[in-house]
Amino acid sequence: MDNRPIGVFDSGVGGMTVLKEIMEKLPTESFIYLGDTKRFPYGSKTKESIIELTKNGIEFLIKKDVKLIIIACGTATSQALDFIKNLYNIPIIGVIRPTVEYINKTNKKNIGVIATAGTIRSKGWEKAILNKIPDAKVQSIACPLLAPMVEEGWNENKIATLAVKEYLKPFNKIQTLILGCTHYPLLTKTIKKQIGRKVEIINIGKFVAIKTKQILNEFKLNSIDNKKQLEVYFTETEYKFNEVASKLIGKKIQAKLVEEENTYVIK
Ligand code: DGL
Repeated sequence: MDNRPIGVFDSGVGGMTVLKEIMEKLPTESFIYLGDTKRFPYGSKTKESIIELTKNGIEFLIKKDVKLIIIACGTATSQALDFIKNLYNIPIIGVIRPTVEYINKTNKKNIGVIATAGTIRSKGWEKAILNKIPDAKVQSIACPLLAPMVEEGWNENKIATLAVKEYLKPFNKIQTLILGCTHYPLLTKTIKKQIGRKVEIINIGKFVAIKTKQILNEFKLNSIDNKKQLEVYFTETEYKFNEVASKLIGKKIQAKLVEEENTYVIK
């Protein structure tokens, strides 16, 4: 049994869609969330930068004495997780593998993926899907404008509708659509209207939550403390992050600002 918090990391507020699912699944756990809003978006950065920034985030959370870390970011999972997971003596979970384990059980082979440009470029989803389901047909589309729109709080307005419509146009007969960026569940209604009811829309947070529960059980890390606290840190708090985060989590979030000189080293 371990009452320390679980650390959750993303480039912005998007990872809160994952946090929300985990909080629902694990109601007795406490959480520390870090959104690297100062360096958002990660989707357009190089792999080297994403690895460096993800390491910084992980080290910040480790200093906060978390017991497990969730990389609640498709971009960081697809490009950094394999390089960093063995560097630290703590379990680290990404968003891709737990989701692909689920897709494999559905028996659906025509799979669409939308994600940031970096994630799509890395082919992280495609490789993971084909590794488990070799006869799958994967269609991937980069949607670089969607995560910034979500940070802006534009999920259901005309601009969101037009952008989603334009991005989803090339999909051909998909059965499943993976929202491969953790910002996108906030666009679910808009995406559903466009893609139609027959396509199963995958919110990756749900499967990360299931995986988190398994790992806590496996490593005997469950909390028996009922204080269940949530601390939220952003590296930049000037913008609409508190507003978007509060709406998403369903309670008032007042994020703290990370003191960068103690946590981020510029080489
Ligand atoms: N939430 C992040 C992801 O899942 C990313 C958006 C970004 O930083 O570009 O990919």
